[in-house]
Amino acid sequence: MIDTAVETIRASFNELVNTRHFLHSHPELSDNEENTARFVSEKLSQMGVMHKTGVGGHGVLAELVGKRQGKTIGLRADMDALPILEQNTFDYCSQNKGVMHACGHDGHTTVLLGAAKALQSLNGDFAGTVRMIFQPAEETVGGAARMCAEGAMEGVDAVLALHGWPGIELGAIGIRRGAMMASADTFDITVKGKGSHAAYPHQSFDPIMVGAQIVTALQSIISREINPADPAVVSVTKFHAGTAYNVIPGHAEIAGTIRTLSPDLRKEIPNRIRSIAEGICAAHRAECEFRYHMGTGPVYNDPNFTDLVEDVARETFGDKAVYEVPYASMGAEDFAAYLEYAPGMMFRLGLGDVSPIHTPTFNFDDRALPIGVIPMSIYWWQGADYFKRPTSEERHAQLP
Ligand code: NI
Repeated sequence: MIDTAVETIRASFNELVNTRHFLHSHPELSDNEENTARFVSEKLSQMGVMHKTGVGGHGVLAELVGKRQGKTIGLRADMDALPILEQNTFDYCSQNKGVMHACGHDGHTTVLLGAAKALQSLNGDFAGTVRMIFQPAEETVGGAARMCAEGAMEGVDAVLALHGWPGIELGAIGIRRGAMMASADTFDITVKGKGSHAAYPHQSFDPIMVGAQIVTALQSIISREINPADPAVVSVTKFHAGTAYNVIPGHAEIAGTIRTLSPDLRKEIPNRIRSIAEGICAAHRAECEFRYHMGTGPVYNDPNFTDLVEDVARETFGDKAVYEVPYASMGAEDFAAYLEYAPGMMFRLGLGDVSPIHTPTFNFDDRALPIGVIPMSIYWWQGADYFKRPTSEERHAQLP
């Protein structure tokens, strides 16, 4: 049965390529994935896969139910593209000028459609349920949480996703146990000073001078207060103040992002930013307004589920197909929203030597498509066993 499904995947290579090229030439921005969703829905209908559209925006939820009782696995792909003018010259380039699949979500969507087909070819000869989640608005963050709010994770016991990754060899997948991607939260600070003529600074509480001290002092949080072995980032990315050469403005706006891999640091850092900003403002007779916005959490790969994906990859493609990712990325991924409902993991699909993601010459390598489909449709061969494995806590408890 495993061999049959693998053969189905290998035999449908041309179809995967055609699907991917169609999606690549018709990219749509976050929350505008109307035609992409319609295309996905048509493909699912052709396969005879039950699904509903319009979930959390343009999301599509599909489901395949096995004949035997079992757990429910979620498989997730994102569908949106980026506001980038494509510079590739092949014949399936973007036909939507200024919009481009520069993050490979065309590949992710194709892989999940391929998994749907492979699973459907089993005619229900598997245990449990596979929920396929075609998500809108990953790039702008929010699509995942909206789909979850509309029931995407209801009854799901574990969830799996992939991201195409330049720099990892074609034919290989990158895995990591534990933290894989960082949380991404944002902050805004308004320094309310007092404006004056630039020639009479003693009449002002200069918000630019105060703001500059805040920006500098914030850099001491990571370097002096956080354990260097626990990665975190505080980046100030906006500083707006003033309109003229000869006017000290009344206020300054500062904003930035915080990245962490651990929930504790995620809670702690905003408090430190607030104290530093308020303290410096108070010292210089300015007022401070601090706003903090919780974005996505960290992506934490469940070690047991990662074992399973690793086993699948080794058995199907050989030992060389598995690359241990040495450290987490401080980039964020809204896949984290699903992990608030169930354990799971995200792996990296090797794309080899292609341009970096989010650049105008990026392109997903078609040869990686079947390599992604196989672990994405793992459920049909040993998904059920995963749940019989001891949890990491249980394993730990067994240690002498
Ligand atoms: Ni992406």
